[in-house]
Amino acid sequence: MAIVPCMANREKADSAEALRFAGLPAALLDWYARHARTLPWRIGPGERARGVVPDPYRVWLAEIMLQQTTVPHAAAYFDKFTRTWPSVEALAGAEDSDVMAAWAGLGYYARARNLLKCAREVTARGEWPRTEAGLRELPGVGPYTAGAVAALAFGEPAAAVDGNVDRVFARLLAAKGDWKDEKRRIAETVRALVPADRPGEFAEALMDLGATVCTPKRPNCLICPVHEWCMGRAEGVPEQYPIKPAKKAKPVRFGEVYIIWREDEVAVERRPSSGLLGGMLGLPTTDWREGGVPDRADWAMVDATSIGGVKHVFTHFELRLDVLVIESPSELPTGIEFQSAGDVAAALPTVFRKALKLAS
Ligand code: ADE
Repeated sequence: MAIVPCMANREKADSAEALRFAGLPAALLDWYARHARTLPWRIGPGERARGVVPDPYRVWLAEIMLQQTTVPHAAAYFDKFTRTWPSVEALAGAEDSDVMAAWAGLGYYARARNLLKCAREVTARGEWPRTEAGLRELPGVGPYTAGAVAALAFGEPAAAVDGNVDRVFARLLAAKGDWKDEKRRIAETVRALVPADRPGEFAEALMDLGATVCTPKRPNCLICPVHEWCMGRAEGVPEQYPIKPAKKAKPVRFGEVYIIWREDEVAVERRPSSGLLGGMLGLPTTDWREGGVPDRADWAMVDATSIGGVKHVFTHFELRLDVLVIESPSELPTGIEFQSAGDVAAALPTVFRKALKLAS
């Protein structure tokens, strides 16, 4: 099958890398036609050629969810969201607190706030922008998501380069240089290889290759459809790529979190709308800071029983919280409400869910 490089990328396709990989897109697409994963937000391989059009809402929603979690974890949330809000207009009309509660456990809560903003903007416009540049203007849509949605939903000749694609191409190129430079070279190479007639399937094929064959620890080169182009494999050590600078250790923050029961209800509060876990329900807690546990608030200066600790890793720090059960607080901090512990758990961010589980 002839693979036509994108007109827009012709110039780049002349680069040495793109010429070297000239046969790769056809081999990858051929493999994808036989081995594509069946995923709830996808249409099958070959369906676009038969005129089936993917739903941009489902494509976009999946991409936002998959930025921070695995396919199986995201699939459960995707199912819940699309059942509750089957269209972008339905999501745009949702209550903020319902969306935040449905997002609880997925992390990166600013993304949930942007998700709603984006749904409302698309609904106000009356249609999705179809190009990478147009999609980039939407709230919460960065370069990766714009490329992915443009290619997957609209068949635009765009590339979707995330960490998995970086890994695949770091191996293909045996990328040994400075990782920032190599990432740029990888993005250019992928862009130049996007086939003009099947950009969506090319993006999906790369995702599947990274998830099922060119995996982080043990790439399975024997079944890899593009091994003949792989310099990492030719060297015999594909798994040593990508070569990235060592990660800095995360600082540790400390705090206390309080479990206050009223029969089978537990005290929760809505967190401020901006900042960490912004807009989410949470358990009452001290500030979290480096160097030691901050002072307890006056209302919590009562008999408190420590029932253990929880740890949670955020993007920029690790959090260690002592979990204390307070039997009879002298007064309650403002903004507290009591909710059924069984029901509220699902609406809490993971760190608070862990603390509540210790007490249940
Ligand atoms: N990772 C990022 N986006 C994805 C998608 N649409 N399908 C599967 N894995 C992905």
